Amino acid sequence: MKKIAIFASGTGTNFVALTKAIQQQHLPVTVSLLVCDHEDAQVLQRAAELKVPIFVINFKAYPNKAAAEQAILDQLAKAEVTAILLAGYMRIIGPTLLGAYTNKILNIHPALLPNFPGAHGIEDAFKAGVKTTGVTVHYIDAAVDSGPIIAQKAVPILAEDTLATLEARIHETEHQLYPAVLADLIKKGDL
Ligand code: GAR
Repeated sequence: MKKIAIFASGTGTNFVALTKAIQQQHLPVTVSLLVCDHEDAQVLQRAAELKVPIFVINFKAYPNKAAAEQAILDQLAKAEVTAILLAGYMRIIGPTLLGAYTNKILNIHPALLPNFPGAHGIEDAFKAGVKTTGVTVHYIDAAVDSGPIIAQKAVPILAEDTLATLEARIHETEHQLYPAVLADLIKKGDL
């Protein structure tokens, strides 16, 4: 059974969608660890409910990013994790983690990359007045929201949309696309 970790900083709806899809679809993979960089994030409660082990990392407790990422690496090794899924993890992955998990870290972004990278992908697309935005799943590299794209799904922005209704449709799309990509990569032996 393949062991993965999910990294999240906030609400954790993608964490839940991934974890439940793995259980319901009987995918040959276990979510062995949730790594979270905020001690009061809502995702922690969700992980407890789903009985996923948790590692909370306080970056301020380490002299630098490399040391903090080494502490994460130690936990990943202990849990025998072979791949990482970022799901609303609002931190740039540094060389320590990237070097240890080359081509084994995926991210989901709430826009059609390379358009609207960064922390506010949905709002930026909405304010730009584009007619179509969407969701991207990609491998990560050293830059923000870059790296080879694995899958994208377009989401139209309707005339009657508010930011809230668009956000809801984007999240719904994320919750379908991310588990589908995971299932596909596992099937192909690419993760
Ligand atoms: C998701 O929309 C994800 O695409 C986004 O954070 C949200 C987390 O929601 N990630 C980024 O913007 C990365 N640049 P969740 O905590 O409910 O899964």
